[in-house]
Amino acid sequence: KFEGLAKTPPLGWNSWNTFATDINEQLVKDIADKFVELGLKDAGYEYIVLDDGWMSKERDANGNLIADPIKFPSGMKALAEYIHSKGLKFGLYNCAGSKTCAGYPGSRGYEYQDARSYASWDVDYLKYDWCNTSKLNAEGAYMTMRDALKAANRPIVFSICEWGDNEPWKWAQDVGHLWRVSGDIINCWDCEVGHGSWSSWGVWKIINMRKDIRKVAGPGHWNDFDMMEVGNGMTDAEDRSHFAMWTMLASPLIMGNDLRTASKETIKTLSSKEVIAINQDKLGIQGFRFSNENDLEIWLKPLDNDAWAIVFINMKDTSTTINFDWKKHDIGDDINGKSLDLKNSVFRIRDLFNHKNLGNTKSNLKAEIGTHDVLMIKLEKE
Ligand code: DGJ
Repeated sequence: KFEGLAKTPPLGWNSWNTFATDINEQLVKDIADKFVELGLKDAGYEYIVLDDGWMSKERDANGNLIADPIKFPSGMKALAEYIHSKGLKFGLYNCAGSKTCAGYPGSRGYEYQDARSYASWDVDYLKYDWCNTSKLNAEGAYMTMRDALKAANRPIVFSICEWGDNEPWKWAQDVGHLWRVSGDIINCWDCEVGHGSWSSWGVWKIINMRKDIRKVAGPGHWNDFDMMEVGNGMTDAEDRSHFAMWTMLASPLIMGNDLRTASKETIKTLSSKEVIAINQDKLGIQGFRFSNENDLEIWLKPLDNDAWAIVFINMKDTSTTINFDWKKHDIGDDINGKSLDLKNSVFRIRDLFNHKNLGNTKSNLKAEIGTHDVLMIKLEKE
């Protein structure tokens, strides 16, 4: 794969969660404009990725992929140019199988040709799905596309969208820059929605789905907990918690909502710079659960400079009060050899969503947290 890309988790937007295949040129340009207008570019969001549905149903006479001429009359190169003119980057979708999940031409047997098309259109990111892949070996199929992208000689972030059955976290570190760990997300807190042979998963279902995968995440290779559902129907508190968790998990932060109609609160959550900084910390360590007793989820993430991020999420249906006694807890991360030295040092506490200082670790941390809401803090040595 192209080295040097996605040194921190990619930040961007993808069309699928809100628009499915109902996408077009004007929509994508509007989204690019909104990145700038709403301060999302300034907050670090960079990639605009078109998911399934951008292509014509058939390849051309030479076997080349073509953009749907009705949805994208100016073609993909012109769209890339528009997005690049805003200082942003452009991503497309395809699939390792014979067809994409929505029935458009897949890349199977056309990998090198398709990679050359993406490079010729100035594409910066490829999401590569796993439908219609009967008998294909996943690792091999993704390696073929990786090699094709490499041969096309353009730095393209390679996003592996296999849904976890083939355990990409065991083999994908040198193949892609990120890989999905689950089936599709859906806009609910902790539900599973069945569709016959497959299910969509709420935020906490995805968080709890895999064990022992955090050790493989790091600069250039991330566990992808799927595109976000912030702004797509959960409460503002749930959206904040969802966002906090994706940052703690060092997941790519790919927005999945309609930025043209997003509420102020949604944009405030998505553009919380101090929260995003935790996701973008240069050590790239994926956070982990510290405890979940009495309906309180506590997660930790070691950061550069011996700092730590901590989230407290209230899983109850009512608000809750926390009174966290630092002296009674031993905070450490054995896998990465990190510990929070509360015996010898005092740490300043910063509330990241509310941009407030909350004293230091000499006294207990007291706070009221609403239902399904989050307190997210950063600890830094005084
Ligand atoms: C399945 C993927 O998991 C989704 O994210 C989306 O890309 C759809 N396929 C598109 O058909």
